[in-house]
Amino acid sequence: MRNRRPVGIWLTTVLLSSGTLLLSALLAGFLAVVSFRHGWVRTSPLYGIIAFLLVSAIIGTLLSAFFSKKVLNPLIALIKATQQVAEGNFDVRLEPRSKGEVGELIRNFNRMAEELSHTEMLRSDFVNNISHEIRTPVAAIENCATLLISGQLSGAEQREYAEMIADGARRLSTLSRNVLSLSRLENQGIITERRRFRLDEQIRQAVVLLEPKWAEKRLELDIELSEVTYEGNPELMIQVWINLLENAIKFSNAGGPLIVRLSEAGGEALTTIEDRGVGMPEEVVGRIFEKFYQGNPSRAAEGNGLGLALVKRIVELSGGRVGVESRPGEGSRFSVSLPMENC
Ligand SMILES: Nc1ncnc2c1ncn2[C@@H]1O[C@H](COP(=O)(O)OP(=O)(O)OP(=O)(O)O)[C@@H](O)[C@H]1O
Ligand SMILES: [Mg+2]
Repeated sequence: MRNRRPVGIWLTTVLLSSGTLLLSALLAGFLAVVSFRHGWVRTSPLYGIIAFLLVSAIIGTLLSAFFSKKVLNPLIALIKATQQVAEGNFDVRLEPRSKGEVGELIRNFNRMAEELSHTEMLRSDFVNNISHEIRTPVAAIENCATLLISGQLSGAEQREYAEMIADGARRLSTLSRNVLSLSRLENQGIITERRRFRLDEQIRQAVVLLEPKWAEKRLELDIELSEVTYEGNPELMIQVWINLLENAIKFSNAGGPLIVRLSEAGGEALTTIEDRGVGMPEEVVGRIFEKFYQGNPSRAAEGNGLGLALVKRIVELSGGRVGVESRPGEGSRFSVSLPMENC
């Protein structure tokens, strides 16, 4: 971008100085004439005018130079700083020395630059995380496909590698679906396409959908759901139950209990999903709702760390809250409370 000079500001300085000089000259003339009339000076008023003019010109120039420097310097610095921000340097900050409006302008500028650099950091983190999540399944697909093409594999091996390709493709498809729905939800301010539906039936449906997963781990289901009619977006809400149940199953020990409850009280629908699995230490609990965060690196391949970020966004958009209690080695209990207005 072209580094333009602040022409307007210099023009203002020149106008300010000329104005001060003109005023000084008028004042000098007026004082010289008055002094001559009253006989305070005996020489011709012309000498008086010239003397006053010289003195006031010096004082006027000094004053206008001092004030224009004081007023205009922070503005010139601000112009240079905004040019740097426009060129993509979000680390620029200004010292808010001036008081009043200019000081406030500088403080607001610093806040804006801070916010922009934070957004830029989030954006680059997001891009890094996505590329990291894409790299693993793509590498697996590429390696398996190369081996299959080589034609040196037995029938059983061919099947195994084809399954690994399908698994990688499924992971990529889940990743793109979750990233898309998260970005759509982040740009959305309210829940649209609301309908009345039975929350208990929807949670039961989610449990049934995940049967292959909990059956494989031989989990013991303990489910008690009161009849609750809720108004919201069913397509979004089922994602909340699926993600929470998937996590509870994934982090449960084989044969452990999976406890699901739904009740209605105080104008709220309260759902809890509890497991007696690996649990989490406090520092992990504090971060689990962040995008791409996974507390257990050895299980990182089993997801992308987007499930709970989606859950949180959907519940918040619905005006509700999601909470978690967990202890390492003892299990976790996630609770979702949803306001029941209009239900
Ligand atoms: N029930 C649970 N028990 C123990 N840890 C959990 C539980 N639920 C979530 N976590 C921790 O929180 C992290 C984030 O969960 P989240 O659902 O966002 O991601 P994920 O399950 O790893 O991947 P994805 O949901 O994208 O498949 C998990 O990786 C895990 O460390
Ligand atoms: Mg998950």
